[in-house]
Amino acid sequence: MIHPKVEFAVSAADKSRGRSALKPRASRNSPDEGSKGYHLSVLPEETVALLAPEPGRVILDGTLGGGGHSEALLEAGARVIATDRDPEAIAFATERLARFGDRFQAVRANFAEAGEVLDRLGVAQIDGALLDIGVSSRQIDAPERGFSFQENGPLDMRMDPSGPVTAADLVNNSSAEDLADLFWKLGEESASRRIAAQIVRDRAERPLATTFDLVHSVEKASPRHGRTHPATKVFQALRIAVNGELEALESALSSISARLRPGGRFAVITFHSLEDRIVKTFFKARSTEWLDRPEWPEPRRNPDFQFRLLTPKPVVASEAEQSRNPRARSAKLRAAQKL
Ligand SMILES: C[S@@+](CC[C@H](N)C(=O)[O-])C[C@H]1O[C@@H](n2cnc3c(N)ncnc32)[C@H](O)[C@@H]1O
Repeated sequence: MIHPKVEFAVSAADKSRGRSALKPRASRNSPDEGSKGYHLSVLPEETVALLAPEPGRVILDGTLGGGGHSEALLEAGARVIATDRDPEAIAFATERLARFGDRFQAVRANFAEAGEVLDRLGVAQIDGALLDIGVSSRQIDAPERGFSFQENGPLDMRMDPSGPVTAADLVNNSSAEDLADLFWKLGEESASRRIAAQIVRDRAERPLATTFDLVHSVEKASPRHGRTHPATKVFQALRIAVNGELEALESALSSISARLRPGGRFAVITFHSLEDRIVKTFFKARSTEWLDRPEWPEPRRNPDFQFRLLTPKPVVASEAEQSRNPRARSAKLRAAQKL
């Protein structure tokens, strides 16, 4: 499904910030101005260098977002097939990258389904793939999407607005034990049980409907210490769960690797340790040629050996990039080349 330009509603928060209620959001971040107002791409030069785009090469950008990485790959002459599960990202980047004609194709899909997308386009093998995991600045900054604890909005957090489960569904319908597990496992939140118990008490009075309802419950259970907002980890955990982020990443690493031609390159940018651990483990397990265990008489060849690591250590943003783009502070880029 190739998505045409669409118009977007302007939220009450936009109006209160003095933005024109008549202006479509896409034109506020006109493609002519690049994607800076939408999302500033992280590690752009490093990513492009590792993917080695060239005319005639086909690269999959699994996380199109504002299209910044795709644009750099297209400028280097590659053909780019891009996916994003957010229709707003597809519409924005499609307009922004229209000048590249049929060298650029955007499909609304979960990157875990990239194989099916490539099949539909008749592409058997690709020369490179990029995943720049997580949410875009545009998604976080839009209060009506419910990703931010700093602005009030519906407790939603779906990257794909037609997804089956919202954050409000999880918060209002899960048991205290399941909520605590979720905050602990996906947020590494040490006050997970206290926060879950407080949510259950608060929702008995009335369901939690907004981001600020959730923030208030978290603050009651875990008052602010230091600079990090107490709701940070709870919001991260819910976002990961609502969007099935870790499952999508695990499945995409295997399915996309299978579509890379020999010599093809795979680059992945992550923003927190849970995701980075998955990527690191995946590449390590497939770039180790020989396996050895104390109980084996001799080392055995690894049947999964298929990659050469291009980044023995993750690439991180320079200080200059970090001060230009604070989001880059936690970014880790890992890449590998198919043998
Ligand atoms: C960090 S942004 C990508 C920014 C982009 N690289 C750029 O230069 O503008 C992540 C994007 O990936 C999308 N996304 C996250 N998980 C996804 C998934 N499983 N399938 C498809 N898109 C996904 C989000 O909707 C978001 O637009």
